[in-house]
Amino acid sequence: MSDQNFKVTIDNITVEVPAGTTILNAARQIGGDVTPPAMCYYSKLEGSGGKCRTCLVEVSKGSEKDPRPMPKLVASCRTTVMDGMEVKSITSERVKDARKGVVEMLLINHPLDCPVCDQAGECHLQDLSYEHGTAGTRYEFDRRTFEKEDIGDDIQLHMTRCILCYRCVFTAEQLTGKREHGVLDRGDHAEISTLIGKHLDNEFIGNVIDVCPVGALTDRTFRFKQRVWFTKPVDAHRDCPTCSGKVRLWFRGEEVFRVTARKDKWGEVEEWICNDCRFHKKQASDWVIEGPSKVSRHSVISQNHYRGAVEAQPELVNEIIGKSPKLLFDIHSVSDVNRPEVDLSKIEGPAHKDDFLPNQKLEGQRKLEVGRK
Ligand code: SF4
Ligand code: FES
Repeated sequence: MSDQNFKVTIDNITVEVPAGTTILNAARQIGGDVTPPAMCYYSKLEGSGGKCRTCLVEVSKGSEKDPRPMPKLVASCRTTVMDGMEVKSITSERVKDARKGVVEMLLINHPLDCPVCDQAGECHLQDLSYEHGTAGTRYEFDRRTFEKEDIGDDIQLHMTRCILCYRCVFTAEQLTGKREHGVLDRGDHAEISTLIGKHLDNEFIGNVIDVCPVGALTDRTFRFKQRVWFTKPVDAHRDCPTCSGKVRLWFRGEEVFRVTARKDKWGEVEEWICNDCRFHKKQASDWVIEGPSKVSRHSVISQNHYRGAVEAQPELVNEIIGKSPKLLFDIHSVSDVNRPEVDLSKIEGPAHKDDFLPNQKLEGQRKLEVGRK
């Protein structure tokens, strides 16, 4: 990158960035809704981007020297700015329409299983559909199915949910130095798979879970244990011989249900963590607690943080999230599911509907407690 700075205007906001900066990263400097969504680009992974097309923008003026607009929408994660460039993101009807199309396309092959998917609440595709998707689909055919593949003790692969962003492939390649999985085949046969039934077992491989934008790679030690919005994220650290040991613990009550890397406001990992911290340190006493995490993404997990404000002063919601929520209610007031008095952390394995039937639940929980004594 040279020392030269270029001026670029995105949605009528001008920002100065070093030559060689992509439109997406220039937009990230402005922040807010102007920033295009990105499902495959990952600033910490070399070569990422250019796969999903969610970051499309319209270049209405190429540069000061050559003001001609670019005829087609461009992937902002792969297009660098020129001096005097003018870009439209949310101010372009073409872009809004294209984003709708991309969401529809991604959902063609993605199961609508958010109610049972561990990624629900922090899934970038869920957020993307909420922000840019349409209520219906025109797709009438069966979705793709895949042979189930066991990729190891700690990580679960759900190939039907994969959007082929390649982030996990780059992570394994660039971080672990021992890549044993990749995208096999092409077109609608393309799938994430390991080399002839190998397991992913490198000591940093757990990071593929954090970079996966959807629920295709999930933590086996956390699967079906909790909905993320019932857990409280807390920053913590330990003296780890392998990684920085700076993590995020996800508590429910006194119990640590999950350990992940800390993520920044774009949903990207701040520092990679090792498998030992992630999968094997599940006691609060293993960690030095720093305090509640600041969750800046606008996904479901952030939304409980506003609950007090919502109830006291609904107009505050607008001020906090910058727009009126499409749907806002207390799930307990409209559904018998997830009743607050049912202690989910005491249920072994996944919760079933029977766990929510008042009498059987109490009976089941009593048995469990007696069995443990
Ligand atoms: S498994 Fe996840 S991270 Fe890997 S390519 Fe698929 S969607 Fe991307
Ligand atoms: S984020 Fe730019 S193409 Fe995927």
